[in-house]
Amino acid sequence: MSEVLNIEKIGQIRGNVISEISKLRSKDEISNLRIKYLGRKGIVSKLLRSIHEIPIDQRKIFGQKLNILKEELELLFEEKSNEGFNEFDQFNKEKSLQDISLPGRKGIIGNLHPTSKVVREICKAFTPMGFQIVEGPEIELDKYNFELLNIPKDHPSRDMFDTFWVDWKNDKDEYPLLMRTHTSPMQARVMEGSIPPIRVLVPGKVFRYEATDASHEWHFFQVEGLAVDKGITFADLKGTVYEFARAIFGSERKIRFRCDYFPFVEPGVDVSIDCFICEGGGCRVCSKTGWIEIMGAGMVHPKVLSSVGYDPEIYSGFAFGMGVERIAMLKYGIEDIRLFYSNDLRFLKQF
Ligand code: PHE
Repeated sequence: MSEVLNIEKIGQIRGNVISEISKLRSKDEISNLRIKYLGRKGIVSKLLRSIHEIPIDQRKIFGQKLNILKEELELLFEEKSNEGFNEFDQFNKEKSLQDISLPGRKGIIGNLHPTSKVVREICKAFTPMGFQIVEGPEIELDKYNFELLNIPKDHPSRDMFDTFWVDWKNDKDEYPLLMRTHTSPMQARVMEGSIPPIRVLVPGKVFRYEATDASHEWHFFQVEGLAVDKGITFADLKGTVYEFARAIFGSERKIRFRCDYFPFVEPGVDVSIDCFICEGGGCRVCSKTGWIEIMGAGMVHPKVLSSVGYDPEIYSGFAFGMGVERIAMLKYGIEDIRLFYSNDLRFLKQF
């Protein structure tokens, strides 16, 4: 008589499956074990197929027991595969000694650089007045940085801007590329590409070939403003700058305009606010004058308007440009501009 007929075998098989199934770790392992017992050539399937070898009187009881076993095993496999074998479970089972409830290492949360903060504040002061924010290239053509701004080649006013030239010559043996010395080239670029009315604000990095000291850096940020339309007057410039000064330095601010020279504006001015530290009494920040210079400005020079194809008889405009770090230094009481870019976290973390 074959061992098939041994009724104890059924109980044994059941016990084996239960112990093997508890060790399974993945869906693949479950599927393999299932095939081993219930597959076409599986242990249980084979037994069922060989039932005819059993004497007729015992066949019924064997058949019943085998079928019950088969159903029970199906159920066990099913339950096991529903247990969930995602990566997390797997990880927990394999690395059960690792305590995943321990708090992780804290990531360092940075903050905006003070220059970025102030650029954003400046933009926020102008956008309600209808200024659009635009940006331009840091490597610029001589044409935009100087020529279209009424600063021809060999003109002494080029000395105002100590320039880093880019070491590249064109076929006319000229060096036409430079690191922009101010954001004003965007005046020409914007006007060239649009029809008035124009109201833009241009934040960006500029470069000057200068020795550094507490108030000079070789690279810094400026924000340029430009408005061009029919009938724009100096009063519009005054009102706009006044609004800005009050938004940034407090609603009590007064502003002062004095004549100054920039080749691309006429008249040109420098704009000061009354010293918000000593309220005009005279202190170190305002060099005892009671006034603090915050920007250069003026009415767009007719030559600049015509160089970009606008008729100065029809259109007029104003422009201004300010140094962002200077505004930040005034706002936060920073005494040395070199602190901005020396990457000292003790300084940077304070903002
Ligand atoms: N571009 C000038 C500078 O860098 C500032 C300025 C801008 C002056 C616009 C007048 C009008 O000094």
